[in-house]
Amino acid sequence: MKVDLLLGLQWGDEGKGKIVDVLTKNYDIIARFQGGPNAGHTLEFDGIKHVLHTIPSGIFHKNSINLIGNGVVIDPVIFQKEIKKLEPFDIDFKSKLFVSRKAHLILPTHRLLDAASELSKGKSKIGSTLKGIGPTYMDKTGRNGIRVGDIELEGWLDKYRKLANKHEQLIKNLDVDLQYNLNELENDFFKAIEKLKNIPFIDSENFIFNELDKNKSILAEGAQGSLLDIDFGTYPFVTSSNTTAAGACTGLGVPPNKIKDVFGIFKAYTTRVGSGPFPTELFDKDGERMAKVGNEFGATTGRPRRCGWLDLVALKYAVKVNGVTSLMMMKGDVLSGFKKIKVCTEYEHNGKILKQFPFSVNDIALKPKYTELNGWKEDISKINNEASLPKTFLDYVKYLEKELNVPISIISVGPDRTQTIIR
Ligand code: GDP
Ligand code: IMO
Ligand code: MG
Repeated sequence: MKVDLLLGLQWGDEGKGKIVDVLTKNYDIIARFQGGPNAGHTLEFDGIKHVLHTIPSGIFHKNSINLIGNGVVIDPVIFQKEIKKLEPFDIDFKSKLFVSRKAHLILPTHRLLDAASELSKGKSKIGSTLKGIGPTYMDKTGRNGIRVGDIELEGWLDKYRKLANKHEQLIKNLDVDLQYNLNELENDFFKAIEKLKNIPFIDSENFIFNELDKNKSILAEGAQGSLLDIDFGTYPFVTSSNTTAAGACTGLGVPPNKIKDVFGIFKAYTTRVGSGPFPTELFDKDGERMAKVGNEFGATTGRPRRCGWLDLVALKYAVKVNGVTSLMMMKGDVLSGFKKIKVCTEYEHNGKILKQFPFSVNDIALKPKYTELNGWKEDISKINNEASLPKTFLDYVKYLEKELNVPISIISVGPDRTQTIIR
């Protein structure tokens, strides 16, 4: 009986989907606990690439139960499209996929509000995924939201109309040029709601208590990353949920003392999509090379990801906030061929050295100070055991383990399930 967590330690897209898929065989239940279709989790096996947004990444394994927890926000339209895409793979959704009655619904007007809010911010926009995430969580904490369980009850349509009207008023007040046809959007929404009813709705916290009593094991799959956390991320350029370890407790109903391992996943360099500070961001050939070799385009929006060297100040902070017990390093293969690998170990601000992630990364210009390590020339993407990895690559791994004081248990050398070295 245990609950382990797998969390992104950077600004998302660390490779969570790939590793959850690799680890699923060790668990009975894979559960998403926060975020929504702003997530894009990529899995690759048998020559096919899958991108999941709302559905947990354990869905392809025969014996796994996949749970969408109460902390998640669901857009029925996107959810339906995901299910449809998976049709050829013969997945029995009725027995493998459960949705919490307490998860909140993303309405069409939440998406419109997201767009209107971004437009009104102009240059200082968050660069959101425009999936309606912020407005949906605002209605949740504002106690106006509509939950999955509500659609089983009488009278939810009145609640819906009231809320949608209020959203339209808010959009008007923002006074931006946003064209939309709500009738069309609502048509799609209500059709998708009917389809959503084909997936079992459950009281997921009770389900989890019962399964834990039966000695079952759960892997909670994080979305986004620690630096996008609503409390600990680079606010206001963050998402609207707690992406860090504590989010799994509130997003599933798992008590803290049931959590065992916390797997922290990071790229061997850093990426970020959307706006916001990024101290080690590169605007030169090195950054372009990371983007090109790493194929750094957002899995949800297709936007190019910004790239830069690994930021140990930020990573150490994320390790602490989450209580990481084991690390997973992704995409080391992308750095093959760089003569020198740089790692940011501290920031300089107004002549002062900062070793801790500061309160506001946004308003102050931080100059990253780098340590240089030797690179490796070899293509490592076909290597399947640690002993065959180049010495300088392993030196990089050992250096990071020492700095972070946590063992790296998985080294990923390519997008495919098989390109994974378990130590
Ligand atoms: P997630 O949101 O954390 O699940 O990550 P994404 O799927 O958004 O982005 C990770 C991208 O890197 C995907 O395209 C993966 O297929 C790919 N990927 C994952 N691990 C590796 C790796 O070790 N090497 C390379 N080259 N690509 C990887
Ligand atoms: P996965 O799970 C990377 C970013 C957006 C934007 C900010 C707020 O695939 O790692 P939102 O739509 O959440 O209000 O946008 O957060 N963002 C992500 N960046 N990966 C993600 O998810 C993200 N989900 C949101 O780009 O900067
Ligand atoms: Mg992603």
